[in-house]
Amino acid sequence: MNYAGVIEFVREKIADNGRPPNYPFRDRFEHTMRVYRWAIKLQAQIGGDLEIIALAALLHDVGWEEGREHGEVGAEIAVEYLDSIGLEPEKISRIGEIIRIHDDKDTEAELSLECKVVMDADLLDEVGAISVLWDSMATACEEEANYRKAYNRIKSFYTGNRPKIRRCKTEVARLEFDRRLKLLEDFLTQLERELF
Ligand SMILES: [Fe+2]
Ligand SMILES: [Fe+2]
Repeated sequence: MNYAGVIEFVREKIADNGRPPNYPFRDRFEHTMRVYRWAIKLQAQIGGDLEIIALAALLHDVGWEEGREHGEVGAEIAVEYLDSIGLEPEKISRIGEIIRIHDDKDTEAELSLECKVVMDADLLDEVGAISVLWDSMATACEEEANYRKAYNRIKSFYTGNRPKIRRCKTEVARLEFDRRLKLLEDFLTQLERELF
């Protein structure tokens, strides 16, 4: 598989799918690459078909169209693209299915191992050291930004996201999510000591 070619396709698709960024610093292509790397790390421990996982992770966020399901649009684009590069139809349909459902992290549906890995990698990108960066930078974009506002935002994000650990579909991702929550707890405790 020519992954460099897939990555180029993803970069272009994300750049012109018209999805409005909710913050100027939130780069969806960079998010995709982090999800791709974490999906591969998870696969190394959990297993599953590496090609399906890698391609589904790379293509999971290519779709965006006002008024339509994000996963549905992405699945259509991915299926057409993978067909054009000659991937086996059976793999294409499994990848399409993962992309179609990836945003529904609370689904009760029976999921393939590959789907669980991609969903978990996507979920992990919302929490951890990275979310401290996100909250700090989002605060800096507001008017009259200050450290206390950033602290409040990091703290409320931590509180709001802690229960999402139940969305983890694999034990390895659950351990990583837990580790990230502990990092945020320690960070907040230390920040309180330093700031107040
Ligand atoms: Fe998505
Ligand atoms: Fe995503």
